[in-house]
Amino acid sequence: MKREPAILVLAGSIRSGAYSQKTADAYAAQLATMECEVTRITLTDYPLPIMDEDLEKEKGIPENAVKLARQFARHDGIVMVTPEYNGSLPPLLKNAIDWVSRVSSDGDKPLKPYRDKLALVASSSDGAMGGYSALTHLRHILVRLGMQVLSEQMALGRADVAFDDMGRISGKREAGILENACRSLVEKATLLRRD
Ligand SMILES: Cc1cc2nc3c(=O)[nH]c(=O)nc-3n(C[C@H](O)[C@H](O)[C@H](O)COP(=O)(O)O)c2cc1C
Repeated sequence: MKREPAILVLAGSIRSGAYSQKTADAYAAQLATMECEVTRITLTDYPLPIMDEDLEKEKGIPENAVKLARQFARHDGIVMVTPEYNGSLPPLLKNAIDWVSRVSSDGDKPLKPYRDKLALVASSSDGAMGGYSALTHLRHILVRLGMQVLSEQMALGRADVAFDDMGRISGKREAGILENACRSLVEKATLLRRD
C-alpha cells in the first residue's frame, strides 16, 4: 500500500507571537484536514551558529544542521513561511537553509535535503505587502537548491489582524488561497511519492 505524502511545515522566525509561526500553524491545520502526514517543526529546536566555512572546516557540520537535513529529506514537501527583513529573508531562515545545503550524506548514506523536493512558500508581515519581497527571494533560493517550488503562494498582509481567536486566517480570500495551495501541494506530493 502506498503511504500518504509527508509534509514538513516551518517558519523563519522564533519570535514569541511571530506572525510567520501563526501562518505556518494555519498551513499545518489546513494540511491536517487533507490526505497527508504533517510535521510541524520550529527552528527553536535547531539552533545553529552563523555559517562560517572556517568553523565548518574545524568542527564539521553541526549536528542540528544534519538533524534538520534529515527532516527535509524524509518529507515529500516542505512549507516555508518567511518574515521580511529589509526586503529579504531574516538571517535565521537563510542561515538554516545554508547549513542544510552543506549536508550531502548521513553517515555512509547519501542525503538530498532539497533536490526534486516540493516546496510551498508563504510570507507574512504586519505591512500591507505581506513580505512579498522576502517571498520572492525565498522562492529564488529554493529553486537554486533544486526544489520544485509550486506557483501557489501567499503574502499575508496586515498579519497583526489576520487571525481569529482560534488562530484561523479570517479573510475569506486569504483562507481560500491557503487552502488551494495546500490542496495543490498534497496532490503533487501524492503523484510524486515513492512506494
Ligand atoms: C531588521 C528588520 C527589518 C525589517 N524589514 C521589514 C521589511 O522590509 N518589510 C516588512 O514588511 N517588515 C519588515 N520588518 C518587520 C517584520 O516583518 C515584523 O517584525 C514581523 O513581525 C517579523 O516577522 P515575525 O512576526 O514572523 O517574527 C522588519 C523587522 C526587522 C527586525
